[in-house]
Amino acid sequence: MIEPVPFLDLSRPHQALAGALADGFAQAVQTTGFIGGRHVETFESDFARFCGADKCIGVANGTDALFIALKALGIGPGDVVLVPSFTFVATAEAVSILGATPRFVEVDPRTYTVTADALAKADTTNVKAVVPVHLFGQCADMQPILALAKERGWTVLEDAAQAHGATDHGRAAGSLGHLAAFSFYPTKNLGAIGDAGAITGPAGEILERARRLANHGRLGRYEHAEPGFNSRLDSIQAMALGLKLRHLVDWNARRVAIAAMYDERLAGVSGVITPLVRNGASHVYHLYVVQVEQRERLQKALDAEKVGHGVHYGLPLHLQPAYAGSGQGRGALPVTERIAEQVLSLPMFPELSESQVDRVVRVVRAHARAGS
Ligand SMILES: Cc1ncc(COP(=O)(O)O)c(C=O)c1O
Repeated sequence: MIEPVPFLDLSRPHQALAGALADGFAQAVQTTGFIGGRHVETFESDFARFCGADKCIGVANGTDALFIALKALGIGPGDVVLVPSFTFVATAEAVSILGATPRFVEVDPRTYTVTADALAKADTTNVKAVVPVHLFGQCADMQPILALAKERGWTVLEDAAQAHGATDHGRAAGSLGHLAAFSFYPTKNLGAIGDAGAITGPAGEILERARRLANHGRLGRYEHAEPGFNSRLDSIQAMALGLKLRHLVDWNARRVAIAAMYDERLAGVSGVITPLVRNGASHVYHLYVVQVEQRERLQKALDAEKVGHGVHYGLPLHLQPAYAGSGQGRGALPVTERIAEQVLSLPMFPELSESQVDRVVRVVRAHARAGS
């Protein structure tokens, strides 16, 4: 019997924290402090410190974090926002929710992130903002993006949903743009025990507006500055996130060590392109994504060996039925379209063992030999 290698194992970290989580639940039930309160405030200040940001506002999920941040930054109907096509759909959805229009741009084929060059080449008519996504755990190259945005008068929202703890020239994701949005979906490097998200950024009126928007546009108990939403981080999620935040540096370090094992063992294997870490960036490997020729054949080989795998993302956003009206059909973004056919995510989670990495690598190497 072959022992399966899962793509992701959420049970191990949760078993380790089960006692502390149960104590947190018991306390919540006893105090009935379900919304707001100490856990939310403590987590918001701890996570802001972790990101090197002035402030953090907890919200209900990462998609809300994105669209509430964009709205606080003044984005609305008629505006165009540049977003990568190679990302999870939420990046573009946040723009659409506001009645604004996402315009899709290319990513760098080795780092999977948007570049200032790609943004400069895009049609910039009516563009008001750009959302660089720190995809798979590596920050977009923010300095040239911020310089271009300043020149053009665009605001910059980081989509940091996959990059808790990643840095760009020594500064952490969440402190690089005008605002940043995080997801704490359970599979993320820092995951809640349900849905949760956060907005981080500099203290000031924009962030205060975001806080109001997330809580019914509230000024006082029954006084409302503008129509808002109900998107609060609940106290049980904040309690769980606070417990997990203490482990995040170690968990990220373990992801980096696993990536180094993959890099070393897959170096020079023909037909396999391993992820590139940009100079000045530190990667936190939310996902370990390679590019391979004949992906389907490798997927079948991995299945036969009971090794988990995934494809992030196989259908770029400009080719999704949801964005059929974007006017950017097949051929519009050739780099994105090519990598979407070749990317394959290998197992990546902090508890993955060296012998499990070796098993994955053996299957990938055999695939490469069979193809040569
Ligand atoms: C890049 C990216 N942006 C946004 C989101 C949306 O986050 P959520 O699922 O918490 O709404 C996700 C995660 O799912 C993501 O991966």
